[in-house]
Amino acid sequence: MRYLTFALGKGRLAKTSLKMFEEIGITCEEMKDKDTRRLIFVNEELKLRFFLAKGPDVPTYVEYGAADIGIVGRDTILEEGRNIYEVLDLGFGACRMCVCGPESSRELLRHHEQIRVATKYPRIAKDYFYNKKHQTVEIIKLNGSVELGAIVGLADVIVDIVETGSTLKENGLVVLEEVCPLTARMVVNPVSMKLEQERIQRLITNLRGLIAKDHGPV
Ligand code: PRP
Repeated sequence: MRYLTFALGKGRLAKTSLKMFEEIGITCEEMKDKDTRRLIFVNEELKLRFFLAKGPDVPTYVEYGAADIGIVGRDTILEEGRNIYEVLDLGFGACRMCVCGPESSRELLRHHEQIRVATKYPRIAKDYFYNKKHQTVEIIKLNGSVELGAIVGLADVIVDIVETGSTLKENGLVVLEEVCPLTARMVVNPVSMKLEQERIQRLITNLRGLIAKDHGPV
């Protein structure tokens, strides 16, 4: 039996998905050692391998088949646009991709003015403004703390993730429009899906059962 390799988005995504895996009998004791500098972890018995990667790299590993399966946010899947199968909504990590800014920018949006949009997600922002709203905008790519873009006058609005809304609130910004809802997803390499259909399908069925038990049917 060959190894099934999982790429997990670093941080809360990996922590929550490992907890879910444990509940369906997939454990990886090696990964629980907080001080380890190892990058890859193996469960010999089940022939599984796990590694942690930066979120945007997860779809890349999965597309090239270096990982069979990935756990990553829907925001990253949409932004990376890789050739991968999205097979399951894991239900956790719920948040929203939104257009945000000062209240004064609401008028600019309404009148379809040529505005500046700062974002970590240029592809999602472009798709939203060009294809859905048919509005020409100038997109400025940032790498983090995107709210700053709207505060210091780099851009009229931002396209960013809103979870609790507290970052916006503390900085005098508001949600102006909602782009789409987001949650953590399981993605699979298209070739792995064919070669390992039975093992992957069983995993999906077990996870689906767990999600239904915790939150009602999906
Ligand atoms: C994310 C996002 C917002 C914030 C939203 O940033 O980009 O800034 O969380 O969360 P809230 O609605 O609960 O306040 P993250 O902490 O990932 O860091 P980043 O700004 O560097 O991307």
